[in-house]
Amino acid sequence: MRILKARSRHLDGVMDIENASFPDPWSRAAFEDYLDTPDGELLILGEGEAVAGFAVYHVSFEDAELYNLAVGKDFRRRGFGRALLDAVLTRAKERGAERMFLEVRRSNAPAIALYRAAGFAVCGVRRNYYALPTEDALLMDITL
Ligand SMILES: CC(C)(COP(=O)(O)OP(=O)(O)OC[C@H]1O[C@@H](n2cnc3c(N)ncnc32)[C@H](O)[C@@H]1OP(=O)(O)O)[C@@H](O)C(=O)NCCC(=O)NCCS
Repeated sequence: MRILKARSRHLDGVMDIENASFPDPWSRAAFEDYLDTPDGELLILGEGEAVAGFAVYHVSFEDAELYNLAVGKDFRRRGFGRALLDAVLTRAKERGAERMFLEVRRSNAPAIALYRAAGFAVCGVRRNYYALPTEDALLMDITL
């Protein structure tokens, strides 16, 4: 398994994980936008066409944002989420970002534990930010 920039052949695997992971999944078109943009990347962790996890981030001058991160259900708790997150942090910093933000559902204990373990801290709350079900987002950030 290795982490690399996604190609269109990876999108089926990315969509399978996305649809299985979130009640309000991104569309395929939303991921396609990150295959070839100067402002961010869709990274996958996988082998050949198989995808075990993915991450999407965006950089705007000194601020970066983690837009999406998920690991396939059969591959969780093996360090893959942390590996993807570390790759995102490194690559965003290489692009000149000084800080990274993310939003996470208040009830998403696994993701919050992952982000805290990587050094993120809660810096705000967005009330009723999510739908299906309606829920607050915690805003977290880290200095790169
Ligand atoms: C959040 C997610 C990406 C974590 O991926 P993962 O590959 O299982 O995470 P890792 O194995 O790298 O875990 C790294 C650390 O995160 C924390 N963690 C991960 N899953 C956890 C869980 N279920 N419960 C508690 N802590 C957890 C632990 O600190 C863990 O370190 P440890 O295994 O040494 O205890 C995965 O659970 C997932 O895809 N969830 C659904 C999608 C999602 O919620 N994405 C985040 C949206 S903001």
